[in-house]
Amino acid sequence: MRLLIHRDYEKLCKWTASYIVKRINGYSPKKDKPFVLGLPTGSSPLGVYKEFIRLNKEGKVSFADVVTFNMDEYVGLPAAHKESYYRFMTDNLFNQIDIPKENYHILNGMAANLEKECKNYEEAIAGFGGIELFLGGIGENGHIAFNEPGSSLASRTRVKTLSMDTRLVNARFFDGDVKQVPAKALTVGVGTVMDAREVIIIVSGPKKARALQAAVEGSVSHMCPLSCLQMHPKAIIVCDEDAAGELKNETVKYFKDIEGKNI
Ligand code: GLP
Repeated sequence: MRLLIHRDYEKLCKWTASYIVKRINGYSPKKDKPFVLGLPTGSSPLGVYKEFIRLNKEGKVSFADVVTFNMDEYVGLPAAHKESYYRFMTDNLFNQIDIPKENYHILNGMAANLEKECKNYEEAIAGFGGIELFLGGIGENGHIAFNEPGSSLASRTRVKTLSMDTRLVNARFFDGDVKQVPAKALTVGVGTVMDAREVIIIVSGPKKARALQAAVEGSVSHMCPLSCLQMHPKAIIVCDEDAAGELKNETVKYFKDIEGKNI
């Protein structure tokens, strides 16, 4: 696992966007050989999405042959709801780049049969030959997508009950009222993320520092789902100095040394 510690959020986003753009361009995607990208929501990826939009407008990358799968969606929020992840993705990325509508996939939290929706999602991912690169963020409790602590590290896409911690953190998007935050979500599993050929997780700010410390310096444990990355053959955690605040000095020095000085 690589750990890149950038000075601040802006640098973290620029590095991540430029890395992914290089991966897409290096892949030379075509209609019959699309680049399959997993994507997150949340405030963490917003800076990366702004960079994608800029680079797309400047002609440095096209998303015409990129197929995307989002990590998760609330159960019970219609796509048009201002806090649905569908709305988040169309507003903050898809409507501002050249991706065709049929190329992006987001779980439908309003599906009549949620189990079937999850099964179909896994099949759709497999139908595209799996995910080439999964970009993700983490929750303050170390969750990836909506895989809360205690989630099976072999889990697949399914319905999850959200922890009160997560609902409280996300209440900021629902007028600060935790009761308005859906109690359940559909989420890809830890196993779904682990099957991606490459995983990049962005971690920013001091509130994520304890989760990052547990994932990097602790053992692999379902109590910190992010720690599963220790078992991934090609994973990169990209963080800023605030998020690295709970890591031991030697850990920071070690990862900075092996990455060289250009961070
Ligand atoms: C939600 C999402 C996660 C995301 C997390 C962190 O819980 N389900 O996929 O990583 O929020 O969000 P933020 O980046 O806003 O801290």
